[in-house]
Amino acid sequence: MNARLVVLASGTGTLLEALLDSSIGGQVVGLVSDQPESRVVHVAESRGIFTRCVSLGDYSSRESWESDLLAQVSELGPDLIIAAGFMRILSPQFVDQFPRQIINSHPSLLPLFPGAHAVRDTMAAGVKVTGCTVHFIDHGVDTGEIIAQQQVSVQPGESESELHERIKLIERRLLPRSIEQLIESHSGISNFGKGTK
Ligand code: GAR
Repeated sequence: MNARLVVLASGTGTLLEALLDSSIGGQVVGLVSDQPESRVVHVAESRGIFTRCVSLGDYSSRESWESDLLAQVSELGPDLIIAAGFMRILSPQFVDQFPRQIINSHPSLLPLFPGAHAVRDTMAAGVKVTGCTVHFIDHGVDTGEIIAQQQVSVQPGESESELHERIKLIERRLLPRSIEQLIESHSGISNFGKGTK
């Protein structure tokens, strides 16, 4: 089955590039970003990926932004939605629309260090081992069921950005591999294939 994958992202887009460069048994049919000026938008456009931008500041309220985000993603008929550096919380309405069809890559070993500053919080805590997690998105912040994790050791004296970069090297392999396994098994994706256009 050629699963339809929709990517949500806000940042530099190296995870999107990793997905586009992997054979994951699915097709990235769209990128939806909340950051029109971000590198990930240029990555998607230059690779011929259908791109939509929903910038929170362009909407009169958070609710109208949330409902347009839901509309834009729904229109793409996703089998799986992948938050690959998407720095916004999805509304409960959004999550309920796609039960166990939304996954996220996060730069810590959840449940440790959830939230937007995972690597900074990791360093502040002084732990020696961290890593990354691929998980389903539920109503909480980085609380959904864990799909895969991999450890990364913290090197003495390295900066937050150096550690984050080493974690991202692992994420770029773990995320495509996790998607491939989900597509192969369809495990837990109750609506898999039903959203197809
Ligand atoms: C990744 O490290 C991802 O885990 C993180 O943003 C980075 C995106 O990298 N996401 C979060 O922190 C979400 N809480 P990229 O823009 O190079 O793909």
